[in-house]
Amino acid sequence: MAKKAKQRKSPVHAAITGVHGYLPPDVLTNADLARMVDTSDQWITERTGIKERRILKGEGLGTSHMGAEAVRGLLKKTGTAPEDVELLICATTTPDFVHPATANLICDMVGIHGIGSFDVQAACSGFVYALTVAAQFIRAGAYRKIVVVGADKMSAIVDFTDRATCVIFGDGAGAVLVEPSRKFGIIDTMIRSDGSGMRYLHQPAGGSRMPPTAETVAKRMHSVHQEGASVYKFAVAGMTEVVSGLMKRNHLKNDDVDWFVPHQANKRIIETTADRMDIPMQRVMMTIQKFGNTTAATIPLSLWDYESKLKAGNRLLLAAFGGGFTWGGIYLTWAYDGSHRR
Ligand SMILES: CC(C)(COP(=O)(O)OP(=O)(O)OC[C@H]1O[C@@H](n2cnc3c(N)ncnc32)[C@H](O)[C@@H]1OP(=O)(O)O)[C@@H](O)C(=O)NCCC(=O)NCCS
Repeated sequence: MAKKAKQRKSPVHAAITGVHGYLPPDVLTNADLARMVDTSDQWITERTGIKERRILKGEGLGTSHMGAEAVRGLLKKTGTAPEDVELLICATTTPDFVHPATANLICDMVGIHGIGSFDVQAACSGFVYALTVAAQFIRAGAYRKIVVVGADKMSAIVDFTDRATCVIFGDGAGAVLVEPSRKFGIIDTMIRSDGSGMRYLHQPAGGSRMPPTAETVAKRMHSVHQEGASVYKFAVAGMTEVVSGLMKRNHLKNDDVDWFVPHQANKRIIETTADRMDIPMQRVMMTIQKFGNTTAATIPLSLWDYESKLKAGNRLLLAAFGGGFTWGGIYLTWAYDGSHRR
């Protein structure tokens, strides 16, 4: 019996085998914002931890532009031909159009043709949701090479006269390659939602409930509206719930977690969550100071930024919270050392 058990193959995991990011070149600093609204570098730094963020400028450039840049870099660095990609999923809340999906556009822009591609909309939890979906296809044996993109052009839906929201968000994109592995990869996932949280964080107009009119534009209803203090509380509670849930379910002690990879909403939300989980800040990825909150892109951008520090077998806990409300987490083992893919 014991011999038989030893011979049994370990289950197939969906492993991240490469990561790449793209940030538009234009930098918007806190000093720049202080010239636009009644705020200061000190207020923004103390309340959010953000010093600067990137803004995508250029006529006709949408989220797909940044997503395509990230995917091009990913394919190049992993030596993946566009024709070898079998599925592409894009997490975004700022699609180029209501339809077609941004994933369709990214495929066309990078020369990926004739495969399935679709968007996932779960606001700031979008990347965790999209990676969770990708993992199911890999585990089921349906696909062997999936690209998951998290991309958002938040500057398109931010009201730059509203000081409580415009200081938080930035633009960017990150992409990962997901492949089957018997050694490393996604071990557990947890996704959650609560539609009653809509009132605290949403974009009121532009959808089917309130189509665009001159009035909705005049009332600035096509941008993000949030009750910051409530979102803050729900975000800490939601991220703590999934992180502690995943740790409990997988018998992980805080010392077992090599890296906590939180959605970069706000430095204080990240610090409070890490403190509740008793994970020291040296093991927490933090990129918010230079990129701001890029919604679905924060987690892949953080993985890209810290890639050189990661080692095969490192245990990572990803956690996100966003509009919807949505929240979720992923426990995975990293599949490669440093900047090398395998
Ligand atoms: C937005 C946020 C930074 C505001 O911080 P806060 O401590 O909650 O501040 P409040 O909203 O209570 O506002 C406090 C005061 O600061 C003011 N204020 C808001 N934004 C300001 C800014 N950019 N600069 C200066 N003052 C500002 C408010 O007008 C208010 O003034 P008042 O007391 O005279 O009315 C904070 O609530 C937050 O980070 N929430 C989470 C947001 C988030 O992460 N969203 C994305 C989720 S994925």
